[in-house]
Amino acid sequence: MITRKQPVTMMYSKALIKPDGEVLNYSDTSSGNEVLVFIHGYPFDQSIWKEQVIALSEQARIITYDVRGYGSSSKGKEKFSIDLFADDLIFLLDSLQVNKVIVCGLSMGGYIALNLVKRYAERVKGLVLYDTQCYADNTIAKAKRYENIALIRNGGKQKYLEDMCKILFSPVTFQQKYEIVKQTLNLMLKADDDVLMRTLEAMAERVESCSILAAIKIPVMILCGEHDMLTPPEKSAFMQQQIQGSVLHIIENSGHLGHLENKEAFNQHLNNFLKSF
Ligand code: MLT
Repeated sequence: MITRKQPVTMMYSKALIKPDGEVLNYSDTSSGNEVLVFIHGYPFDQSIWKEQVIALSEQARIITYDVRGYGSSSKGKEKFSIDLFADDLIFLLDSLQVNKVIVCGLSMGGYIALNLVKRYAERVKGLVLYDTQCYADNTIAKAKRYENIALIRNGGKQKYLEDMCKILFSPVTFQQKYEIVKQTLNLMLKADDDVLMRTLEAMAERVESCSILAAIKIPVMILCGEHDMLTPPEKSAFMQQQIQGSVLHIIENSGHLGHLENKEAFNQHLNNFLKSF
């Protein structure tokens, strides 16, 4: 008898308690041959993937989680770093007894995904680099992060996040889908000041990943919004040139968050990628 996997209609999150008492909050659709892990960007949480969990749950087992300090994951006392974020994800996968995964990382999530490929290559069987880049921060970008840390420290979180929101979306989203802008800003405002500052420092101090791209031999799909101002298409094109066999798709009418701004195109690309395994 052929049993068809039931579609998922909601995300249910669960708390994983780590040995040090810290909480890692995740959701897991629990069945499917391939396992697809979504890693959110800064400063969001796993809820930004809810449409993808619903749309793709018949194609794969879908795991999403709140990066340390975001959503319902606790922040802990350790200094934040991209290494630490990647270690958290490995802890989650080990706890779920999941060995090899396809990873889709958005922006900072892409930094974490590339870190996994660098340090835990044997755990990654496919990679989606979504609105992200392989470069480390240059001097100007680094200085801007520390300026923003000072702004937040001085009570400027709201202004900082409102300004960030202004460059996240495409003109079409601002004109025709403004509810996405409002919902995203509300989500961003939930982030804790200390977590924002610690993450900015982690991103400022991250190392580049461009030098590992030529050695990647797994299937890689690169997605980028045509109007992405934070990680523009040139940065994706560079990664595509470096990774043999990788494909790049530009998502129309999208800025930095194509999975919300043009979810039909985004989901279709993910669907096609999953079918290739
Ligand atoms: C993100 O969307 O995760 C961040 O904007 C990435 C960054 O600031 O480098």
